Amino acid sequence: MDAYAAIHSRRDVRSGFLPDVPVADDVLTRVLEAAHAAPSVGLSQPWDFLVLRDRDLRQRVHAHVAAERAAYAAELPAARAAAFRELKVEAILDTPLNIAVTCDPTRGGRHTLGRRTQPRTAGYSAAAAVQNLWLAARAEGLGVGWVSFADERGLAALLGLPAHLEVVAYLCVGHVAEFRPEPELATAGWAARRPLRWAVHHDATGGGRCPARSLRTCSPRRSPRSRPRTRPRGPRPSSGWTG
Ligand SMILES: Cc1cc2nc3c(=O)[nH]c(=O)nc-3n(C[C@H](O)[C@H](O)[C@H](O)COP(=O)(O)O)c2cc1C
Repeated sequence: MDAYAAIHSRRDVRSGFLPDVPVADDVLTRVLEAAHAAPSVGLSQPWDFLVLRDRDLRQRVHAHVAAERAAYAAELPAARAAAFRELKVEAILDTPLNIAVTCDPTRGGRHTLGRRTQPRTAGYSAAAAVQNLWLAARAEGLGVGWVSFADERGLAALLGLPAHLEVVAYLCVGHVAEFRPEPELATAGWAARRPLRWAVHHDATGGGRCPARSLRTCSPRRSPRSRPRTRPRGPRPSSGWTG
């Protein structure tokens, strides 16, 4: 599978895992090697990968996530809450293993090259490792589902992390029956994909047609001419610049 095929067929997977098919050690090692090959600010490699198989621990994480899911649902308007009830948002116990990806924002020391003015680059580096992991897993036929419902400090406590470590991602990993062609949230009508042309802006330092300005001010209502003739099926994205 080439890089583009992996990128375009990668999915966030929540259902359809094959619980009885284990993740072989050599496959897991390749996937983690790919994650560990990610770019990082100042080559600080701030990530660690916690491979979690212990059922009791995962049950505690699952209970925490279920509580946070309920709290989120309680804040939704009625129609949205009804739609949300139909969505699966995690596969913590449906997969043979979970991987927590952490970030040590102090790794590399205080003079880490490139981090002085942008401390968040440590977390960005860990997120790049997650993406490498996700794509390598796809190439290996492994599904990955990212769960971000947990309260970050609550999850860190459940995992027994020292206070300076951040949880960047909690991933459910296992073999799957299939990879769907479209994001589940799009198929369910929960959210829509934005066309590339809505996301690309040329010559951001220009004059009157400055895209950077349009990012701040344009909305379809205020600027109908900038609105594409078509938009993806499904609900309009709830926030951000849409045309
Ligand atoms: C930072 C991050 C957090 C996410 N958290 C969740 C989550 O808690 N539950 C869930 O079902 N999907 C989660 N997702 C998956 C997204 O919903 C998914 O990537 C998006 O709908 C696009 O689908 P695709 O990954 O299949 O292309 C998360 C994705 C990212 C990048």
